[in-house]
Amino acid sequence: MFKILEANELTTNIYQMIVEAPRVASACLPGQFLIIRVDEEGERIPLTICDYNREKGTVEIVAQAIGAETFKLSKLKAGDELADVVGPLGKPSDLCELSVDELKKKKIVFIAGGVGTAPVYPQAKYLKEHGVDCDVIIGAKTKDLVILEDRFKEVCNLHITTDDGSYGRSGMVTKALQDLWDEGNRYDHCVAIGPMIMMKFVCKLTQELGIPTVVSMNPIMVDGTGMCGACRLTVDGKVQFACVDGPEFDGHKVDFDQAMNRMKLYKTEEGRLFLKAQE
Ligand code: NAD
Ligand code: FES
Repeated sequence: MFKILEANELTTNIYQMIVEAPRVASACLPGQFLIIRVDEEGERIPLTICDYNREKGTVEIVAQAIGAETFKLSKLKAGDELADVVGPLGKPSDLCELSVDELKKKKIVFIAGGVGTAPVYPQAKYLKEHGVDCDVIIGAKTKDLVILEDRFKEVCNLHITTDDGSYGRSGMVTKALQDLWDEGNRYDHCVAIGPMIMMKFVCKLTQELGIPTVVSMNPIMVDGTGMCGACRLTVDGKVQFACVDGPEFDGHKVDFDQAMNRMKLYKTEEGRLFLKAQE
C-alpha cells in the first residue's frame, strides 16, 4: 500500500497528491508516468508525474476527476492509501539525454494546457536545476483554472494565457505562441502537453514556424507494459504504443485525428461508470 501524505484540490476538480513511493521516486525522470489503482477492485489510472523528491521518497501526482476512478481518487485524503503505484513507466524526456552544453544551445518553449500543465513542471524544473533557461506558456480556460503558477515562476520565464482573457494574455496557447514569435522570440524546440486537440493545433502552428515539437500522448492505457495494445497510436505511419514507445513522440508525425477517434470509443462506457461512482 502507498500512503498519501498530502491531498489538496488545486482548483475546481483538479487534485494534487503527494504519495509515499520510494522506489518510484528514486528512479523516475521528467516525461515518465505512473499507473495507480485506488483500491483492489479499481481500474488502472495512468498519471503523469508532476514532481518527485528522492530524499523523501515521494512522488506528486495531479489528476482531474473526469471518470469513475479519478472521482474515487479525488475523495481520498492525507493518511489514506493507494492499492498500487507502478512506475516509472515510459521513456524519459529526450531532453534528459542531452548534455548541459547541448541544452544551453537550445531555445526551448513548453506549451502546457489545462491539467497538462502538471507534467510540464518536472521538465522545466530539471532544466532550471541544470542552469538552462526556458519559456513556458500555460493555457487555461479561465483565471481560476491556472495551476502551479508560483512554482513555475521559480523555474522558467512564464507566460499565462486564458481563453476568456480573464488573466494574462487573451486567447488559446497557439495565439500566445504566435504572438511571442511575432514579438521576436525564436524557438528551436517545443514541448506541448495538454488535451489532444491542443497538441494537434500547436503542432500545426510549429510546423508552419519550423519548430521541432515533442508531444506527450495520453491515450487510454490498460497494462502499461506494451502487451494489451490499448494505447496504440500511429506515428510516422507506424504503430507505436504510448506506454512503452512514448509517451513522448515527434508531434509532427502523430496521427492526432486517429488518436482522438480512438479516445471517443470509450466515452459511453466511461460515462456510465462515472455516473455510478457519483451515486
Ligand atoms: P482545456 O480544455 O481547458 O484546454 C487547455 C488549454 O489548451 C486551453 O486553455 C487552450 O489554450 C488550449 N487549447 C484547447 N483547445 C485548443 C485548440 N483547439 N487549439 C489551440 N489550443 C487549444 O484542458 P483541460 O480540460 O485541462 O484538459 C483536459 C485534457 O488534458 C484531458 O483530456 C486529459 O486527458 C489531457 N491531459 C493530457 C496530458 C498529457 O500528458 N498529454 C496530461 C494531463 C491531461
Ligand atoms: Fe497496454 Fe500500452 S497500455 S500496450
